Amino acid sequence: MTLILGIETSCDETAAAVITGEREIRSNVVLSQIEAHVPYGGVVPEIAARAHLDHIEDVVARAMDDAGVSLQELDAIAVTGGPGLIGGVIVGVMTAKAIASVTGKPFIAVNHLEGHALTVRLTHDVPFPFLLLLVSGGHCQFLIVKNVGEYEKLGGTMDDALGEAFDKTAKMMGLDYPGGPAVEKLARSGDERAYTFPVPLKGREGCDFSFSGLKTAVRLKVQEIGAVDERQMADICASFQYTVGISVADRTRHAMQVFCERYPKAKHFVLAGGVAANQYVRGKLETVAAEFGMELVAPPIKLCTDNAAMIAWAGLERFRLGMLDELNFEPRARWPLS
Ligand code: KG4
Ligand code: ZN
Repeated sequence: MTLILGIETSCDETAAAVITGEREIRSNVVLSQIEAHVPYGGVVPEIAARAHLDHIEDVVARAMDDAGVSLQELDAIAVTGGPGLIGGVIVGVMTAKAIASVTGKPFIAVNHLEGHALTVRLTHDVPFPFLLLLVSGGHCQFLIVKNVGEYEKLGGTMDDALGEAFDKTAKMMGLDYPGGPAVEKLARSGDERAYTFPVPLKGREGCDFSFSGLKTAVRLKVQEIGAVDERQMADICASFQYTVGISVADRTRHAMQVFCERYPKAKHFVLAGGVAANQYVRGKLETVAAEFGMELVAPPIKLCTDNAAMIAWAGLERFRLGMLDELNFEPRARWPLS
């Protein structure tokens, strides 16, 4: 049985996980640093890097313990090699290299985005190629996932990522970071037609996104109201989410048109990244997928937000294909998938 250790430290979660070639998650430890960053309303790279350094050893030890395997029993060590906050990525990569070097096991540098892209195959039977919408705090793009390591970008955001738009909207109303879950929760009790916000890129060709105009519209509305009460806050969240839903559905239709023309037999539309946890957005996209005879699939929520099982899984897919890396791999702050 193949056993892979995965390590993830590219943002504000220190995470380690062990998975098997039989798609079993033996352990999945995620230590969130959210509390350390809340006072600043977002992730502070220097604080994140130090926190990773403080916790990485314990987190890896716990993942090994929970899995009940020794380092010698591993087949390979996979780690996020980028993109991300470079201080954190370095901590993870150095740890993985150290383990690989003392055990003599293969080292695999995984692109964080590839982790998000392939995780669905850990939990569902999804063959290549599939259409992927990756929506997180730092990323927002459509990709055709043709194979392990073979990606084609159809479109991406011209400014903010979708998770970032949720986070900034939340911050404007004094809600804590990360704002996505808070906005979704408040939106449930709000009236989505209370305020009319402009739909980003409405009627525009292509599969790109833009959220800065919507963000500005929300900011102006909040300023106009002044002291926003509970009711108004819920209405703003609902109206914002409603507008996001229209925009994302519209962009997805464009991406599906391109994808279905090229791969008429492919059936899977995969949603990944932290925003995939949003039930409202998911619902809208399920409807769009059905229009094209496609099926929306998303990993369970705890595998959608950053974790190390996704890195271990992408590592396993690479390991099977002999796609290993050298110990002189250099951590990358930027690393486009396609
Ligand atoms: O994938 P992830 O954990 O980290 C990145 O790689 O960015 O995604 C975190 C992002 C944050 O912006 C967070 O606000 C957003 O995902 N998010 C949500 C929800 N849960 C997390 N956005 C909207 N609705 C949610 N329920
Ligand atoms: Zn992520």
